[in-house]
Amino acid sequence: MKLQNKVALITGAARGIGLAVAMRYAEEGARVVLADIADNAVHKAAAEVGHGAIGVQLDVTRPESIDAAIKTTVETFGALDILVNNAGVFDLAPILEITRESYRTVFAVNVEGLLFTLQAAARQMVAQGTGGRIINFSSQAGRRGEGLVGVYCASKAAVLSLTQSAGLDLIRHGIRVNGIAPGVVDTPMWDHVDAKFAEYEGRPIGEKKRLVGEAVPYGRMGKPEDYAGAAVFLASDDAEYVVAQTLNVDGGNWMS
Ligand SMILES: NC(=O)c1ccc[n+]([C@@H]2O[C@H](COP(=O)([O-])OP(=O)(O)OC[C@H]3O[C@@H](n4cnc5c(N)ncnc54)[C@H](O)[C@@H]3O)[C@@H](O)[C@H]2O)c1
Repeated sequence: MKLQNKVALITGAARGIGLAVAMRYAEEGARVVLADIADNAVHKAAAEVGHGAIGVQLDVTRPESIDAAIKTTVETFGALDILVNNAGVFDLAPILEITRESYRTVFAVNVEGLLFTLQAAARQMVAQGTGGRIINFSSQAGRRGEGLVGVYCASKAAVLSLTQSAGLDLIRHGIRVNGIAPGVVDTPMWDHVDAKFAEYEGRPIGEKKRLVGEAVPYGRMGKPEDYAGAAVFLASDDAEYVVAQTLNVDGGNWMS
């Protein structure tokens, strides 16, 4: 088992990619804290994961909520070794129609929330003096802009950049910060993406999702479970010399 007795906090873990990572971490021997703004769903998800995993309500946009989640983690399991910064939200609009509310909401979760959860976790890891591992979820959308997806793409480009800066700054504390850039993944988030494309491109519901899946070189959309292996690798000793990188896990969609 690659994560035996490591304590992992995973944000946005009530469903989708975060839940799949939580399940695999638990199978790899980690003590897992699933954290999500969706209170009932995250407790249900923790019960599903089993292996002693617990659920906590966390809103990454609220500093006191971040502190409380880390406190609960340390009080329950005695330490924090791994943070998976996975919580994220999506929005879509042509540049001429982007609202400040949409911009603020997306950046509050995807950038500010990710940065200050990373900071709080890193402070705990520095205090422990045992190093740590942090994995930030970016996106292929962070590698290149898209006409209708300006705000989300910009937020995920910021995640790529923060992964580099935090990786370079925190390695002196033995904290390895890396990222994962998914392609298109069949989760509830993509149902929302599909509905937005339907609205702005005049497509029937489901068509955009089918088209993007067919366009993936691998031949299909990603599944949440496709991300578990990369998330285990980056948190494990196998990735000891991997620092400040963002790994594309996208069926061949992107090369960088
Ligand atoms: N699905 C994709 O195609 C895709 C592609 C590239 C990147 N990603 C990224 O991967 C990550 C996971 O995506 P997913 O598809 O599983 O998404 P999802 O929408 O299925 O799940 C995201 C989870 O984050 C939680 N969340 C939202 N706001 C929160 C907040 N303020 N505090 C705490 N939790 C909050 C939600 O409740 C939800 O459970 C996200 O960062 C997303 O941007 C997804």
